[in-house]
Amino acid sequence: MGKTIIISNRLPVQLQISNGTITAIPSVGGLATGMKSVHSSGDSLWIGWSGLTEEDIAPELEPKIDEALAAHGSSKVKLTEKEVDGFYYGFSNRTIWPLFHYFLEYSEFQLDYWNTYKKVNQKFADAILAKAEDGDTIWVHDYQLMLVPQMVRKERPNVSIGFFLHIPFPSFEIFRTLPWREELLEGVLGSDLIGFHTYDYERHFLSSVRRLLGLEVSFNDISMGDRLIKVDSFPMGIDYKKFSDAAKIHYNRAEDEQSELQQRLNTHKKTDPEAKFFLSIDRLDYSKGIAKRLNAFEYFLNKYPQYKEKVRLIILAVPSRSNVPQYQLLKREIDELVGRINGEFSTVSWTPIWYFYRSMPFENLIDLYTSSDIAWLTPLRDGMNLVAKEYIATRTDKTGVLILSEMAGSANEMNESLLVNPNNFEQTADALHEAINMPLEEQKARNAILQKRLARYNVEKWANDFMTSLKSQKERDAANVSRKLTDKLLESISVKYSKAKKRLLFLDYDGTLAGFHNDPQKAGPDEQLYELLDILNEQPNTVLYLISGRDKDTFTKWFLPKKYNMIVEHGVWISQNGEPFRMLENVKNDWMEKVRPVLESFVDRTPGSFIEEKNYSLAWHYRKTDPDFGSKRAMELSTTLTSLIGTDDLSLLNGNKVVEVKSSNVNKGRASVRILGEDEYDFVFAIGDDWTDEFMFQELPESTVTVKVGIQKTAAKYYVENTQKVRGLLQKFAQL
Ligand code: ADP
Ligand code: G6P
Repeated sequence: MGKTIIISNRLPVQLQISNGTITAIPSVGGLATGMKSVHSSGDSLWIGWSGLTEEDIAPELEPKIDEALAAHGSSKVKLTEKEVDGFYYGFSNRTIWPLFHYFLEYSEFQLDYWNTYKKVNQKFADAILAKAEDGDTIWVHDYQLMLVPQMVRKERPNVSIGFFLHIPFPSFEIFRTLPWREELLEGVLGSDLIGFHTYDYERHFLSSVRRLLGLEVSFNDISMGDRLIKVDSFPMGIDYKKFSDAAKIHYNRAEDEQSELQQRLNTHKKTDPEAKFFLSIDRLDYSKGIAKRLNAFEYFLNKYPQYKEKVRLIILAVPSRSNVPQYQLLKREIDELVGRINGEFSTVSWTPIWYFYRSMPFENLIDLYTSSDIAWLTPLRDGMNLVAKEYIATRTDKTGVLILSEMAGSANEMNESLLVNPNNFEQTADALHEAINMPLEEQKARNAILQKRLARYNVEKWANDFMTSLKSQKERDAANVSRKLTDKLLESISVKYSKAKKRLLFLDYDGTLAGFHNDPQKAGPDEQLYELLDILNEQPNTVLYLISGRDKDTFTKWFLPKKYNMIVEHGVWISQNGEPFRMLENVKNDWMEKVRPVLESFVDRTPGSFIEEKNYSLAWHYRKTDPDFGSKRAMELSTTLTSLIGTDDLSLLNGNKVVEVKSSNVNKGRASVRILGEDEYDFVFAIGDDWTDEFMFQELPESTVTVKVGIQKTAAKYYVENTQKVRGLLQKFAQL
């Protein structure tokens, strides 16, 4: 078993140098606090940025820095001040962070940030490449390193790469505004498994992949070249035991052993046992909605004045990204708001808001969690929000009320909390009122359910689920690889080809010999294809058939001067040796009158779709429609048609972006078997890309060399990735 490498911008600790002494401070933020628990229990290596720039580190201190990091199972990526500016304060936190949190107006699109982001991502990738060996598992984290998976994949195709995004993935409408959107998606798609906190983020990501890269997505699998990438949601948990154990120890502590903060909290509790503490904890970030929360608090005090002097809001804001102007403005805004509200409402014996702008040691966090009656966590947008989970875990007597924003990822799993829209002050004020008055029994009932869930799906389970899924994804891929038409396999097929006395080749056209075109009428063959087909067709003892679902007029126009054999409309028509088309199957088409209006109604309701009318079939094409909408409509159409046709005479084919209705006794399988029966062949070859070709793969004899283009499920023996590979393969035959 290979080793696991974790890679993220933040390491579990941040280093600081003062007077030549190095101190390691625990990192804040969900990624570092969550992964720390996973990392400490395994033998993984964690690569990241130490928090110091190259300019900060005097050469003689370097070994000490490495030593300090090694003590935390970590190793550093060195970044210059300029790189930190462009990569961290720039592209990561002035472009991606605001955009992905729906703060479009804060997002800056600057080419030099992007260039530095690329450069620094390459540095992180190089750091992995220096340590990784085949068989290792690499787990890349978060929005700062979205290009790393592809950069590593390029050099080490055989390592297992997982990527987890700790922040929301925004809707396509937001994501599409980014000038480098395709590059970011392609970067992430270097992974074998891509994880998100919630299904919504996953859905948005898949939608962008489909729309921007045009890749095929089937359920949560993305097909990209010869790779299958899995996308799934894994809601991150917390180290539940760490928090609940700390809370238990905390409750058992004698008063004189308690922290100074706790003693102060106790004093206030004693003066007025009825008074309630509201707790708000976040990094100082505009996505956390701290200013809105303060405004809502003011609104609450005005709406429910009976709670003046009875409630206190404790705000703990951790300094964060203070070089970014929006964070500096926010700091000023919060300072002012706290000052104004305290100025407006304070009395000689009561200050409504206590405001701490600092990071706190773990023990003090526990003091605050355990002493607060209500946790009020209402981000405007938050990937997950682990603080909400931590609060619940510390409430070992099951009391306490959590007010949580609907916009936090954790709201999906914490339905028993009071969920609010942070922009709705009326609702928020009412939720505070409800929380203050919630009977103890109700608090306990809600928290019991929450605690059970959080204890079960803890951070360890989250990481294990991700890793297990990554492992099985790699195995699934490996199973596929054995069927891939490798050079070696092609060699042995070529030997059979050259030794054969008589060969029969069935070649599908669209998606096999030629790529797809938005306008199917324009997708004619290129010169190179004609040349290739001419050579094959003229080889002695070789019978070549183009076999297609296309109509005979198009193929007549494209190919008839040539003497290729052709079967079109899935087997209705045949042309041999340059003769005009004649019917291969006798089929009726009187059903068309009934089916056509149904298809027309779908064309009317699905912009971009159109009907292709063939002699014995009708096809509804949706390649040019919005991909999500088109697939949905295709499903709807299939259901409608299935119940409508309901006879043995007609069948429905779900092809590549096309739904086709045709007579049942016509398919490529039946047609190809019929041709096969006309002579003695000792080498039979069939190649195609979609469901209509599966009939050939299934019905031709076992000895046939069947090849699928693409990596979807197939009855074919082998697969190749794309049309270029098909050309390469046929070139090889042509040279024999
Ligand atoms: P984010 O990752 O956006 O910062 P989360 O709520 O997911 O938000 O994670 C915040 C993490 O930082 C939590 O694990 C929390 O315990 C920790 N944290 C928050 N505030 C403080 C603070 N003032 N001091 C120390 N740790 C903090
Ligand atoms: C969020 C991000 C993390 C980041 C953390 C703290 O949780 O998802 O990637 O580490 O915030 O932010 P910082 O910029 O200090 O690393």
